[in-house]
Amino acid sequence: MSTKGVILIGGPSKGTRFRPLSLDKPKPLFELAGKAMIWHQISALAKVKGLNEVILLGVYEDRVLEQFLRESRREFPGVQINYLREFRALGTAGGLYHFRDAILRGKPDQIFILNADICSTFPLSEMQAFHGTHRGVGTIVGKQVPKGTEQRFGVMVVDGETKQAIHYVEKPESWVSSMINTGVYLFDKSIFDEIKVAMEEKSKIAAEDPTSDPDDIIHLEQDVITRLAANRKLYVYETKDYWSQIKTAGSALPANAHYLSTSPPSFLTPPTTKGNPHPNGPEIVGSVFIDPSAQIDPSAKIGPNVSIGKNVVVGKGVRVLESIVLEGSVLEKNSVVIYSIVGAGCKIGAWARVSGEPEDLAAVKPQKTVTILADHVTVAKEVCVRSCIVLPQKVLHKSSANEVLL
Ligand code: GTP
Repeated sequence: MSTKGVILIGGPSKGTRFRPLSLDKPKPLFELAGKAMIWHQISALAKVKGLNEVILLGVYEDRVLEQFLRESRREFPGVQINYLREFRALGTAGGLYHFRDAILRGKPDQIFILNADICSTFPLSEMQAFHGTHRGVGTIVGKQVPKGTEQRFGVMVVDGETKQAIHYVEKPESWVSSMINTGVYLFDKSIFDEIKVAMEEKSKIAAEDPTSDPDDIIHLEQDVITRLAANRKLYVYETKDYWSQIKTAGSALPANAHYLSTSPPSFLTPPTTKGNPHPNGPEIVGSVFIDPSAQIDPSAKIGPNVSIGKNVVVGKGVRVLESIVLEGSVLEKNSVVIYSIVGAGCKIGAWARVSGEPEDLAAVKPQKTVTILADHVTVAKEVCVRSCIVLPQKVLHKSSANEVLL
């Protein structure tokens, strides 16, 4: 069976809640466990038998993705990896329909569609096996979420016996179901007929109602999935595995921790025993990724759940835990970084402390914040920054807490 994968990567006007981390780099390329966010989707798709092409569908300029595409093609030689650019954001189903000929080239029988801004175990082979057991147009991966948090997602009422989605509501105002749409789909090629009908219905409604806003954006969720559920053409494969959305900058930390926990040991930095550190390395606690080009002083202590990017310099006695430190940053001696994201090219002075608190993604209203330093921020020596969001190029000479520093 021939299969393709499409990853919906959005564009510069999307992912605004990820700012300031998406100001200088597109959100889908933000690195989690040392790899771009969408590398994890590509890696999962590349493992599916019979899958020969992955299409990234988005609104970013081609040059922004060039290097990533080059590196991915080298890393996954068994699959073609291509980028299709929408001339403007056409919506999660509008872009698919616009490029239907390119997606259907080579006559794939089935098409995986994955959102870019999710962290998941991507149980693609399992959902493909499940898809083969029914005659619906598509299979969607569903997950039960804690009561009270459903309103952030698209939710589905599922027939317990047949596993059909029978009702779908995007971000419901009152409780409908706790089974959410995880943004992982497998469709037969007839999905394009379904999108076409949804488009026709939408323009008919717009033509009959002069007060309606005649936008021509077609959403996979509200316009297509809702109809498929009402017509019992969609089946739900429930996962109990880890899954999270990556919407806010802070939500990158649990995603980073998850991908570190599932990375092969050969990719991670080998642990050293407490009190007996590796002669040439720092003390490592739990799962940690350190890019080979980073320079880490042997007296530093790193982990758990830390990713350190290219050319980062970590000085004597530095402590980093539950954090991401991006390319080219310098952590000077005895500085501390906890529950924080340090953007590219930042400088953390000696004895400075950059800290945040873990966001509880299951909380109804997440309150706590990790500290986010955008690119090229300088924290002067001995300064403490706690639960702050700091915009690019800022130089911090005094301590701050719970602030957005513009
Ligand atoms: P929000 O919570 O409002 O962000 O909605 P959501 O979680 O349903 O996400 P949304 O529907 O906006 O996006 C789902 C995925 O599709 C994300 O990876 C987006 O980057 C991507 N996406 C959103 N709009 C477009 C679009 O117009 N074109 C393309 N190609 N991708 C899109």
